[in-house]
Amino acid sequence: MKITIINGPNLNLLGSRETDIYGNQNFDSYLDSLKTYFPKIEIDYFQSNIEGEIINYIHDSKNCNGIILNAAAYTHTSVGIADAVKSINCKVIEVHISNTYSREEFRHNSFLSPVVDGIIIGFGLYSYRLALESLIKDE
Ligand code: DQA
Repeated sequence: MKITIINGPNLNLLGSRETDIYGNQNFDSYLDSLKTYFPKIEIDYFQSNIEGEIINYIHDSKNCNGIILNAAAYTHTSVGIADAVKSINCKVIEVHISNTYSREEFRHNSFLSPVVDGIIIGFGLYSYRLALESLIKDE
């Protein structure tokens, strides 16, 4: 089983970026612990700060068993990423580290929420593990 995690802009800076909101752990070390916890799952990881690259990667991931997508700031702006999600048949779970609904109002809108299969918000990096659990629950 292959699950793809796609992280959007500025998430390459996890661990040093706004640590009061996103915590002190960088994503590479979190990914290592996720791979250890789910040894039978092939976890593919892609991060980009560029909207078009994220769209291309969603297209290229159409044959995987599930996508965990944290489009970060593009969540609130990108019709293009929402259309890419609609263009593939693979399950997509929208994930956010912080509780976007307890933050600024512009973070309350997501172009992705109406087109994804599920949404996990506000559990820190643990949100990714919850998303993974949801994708493998029927395996
Ligand atoms: C985020 C929330 C977004 O509003 C923000 O732009 C991010 C990270 C999160 O995971 O909490 O970059 O997606």
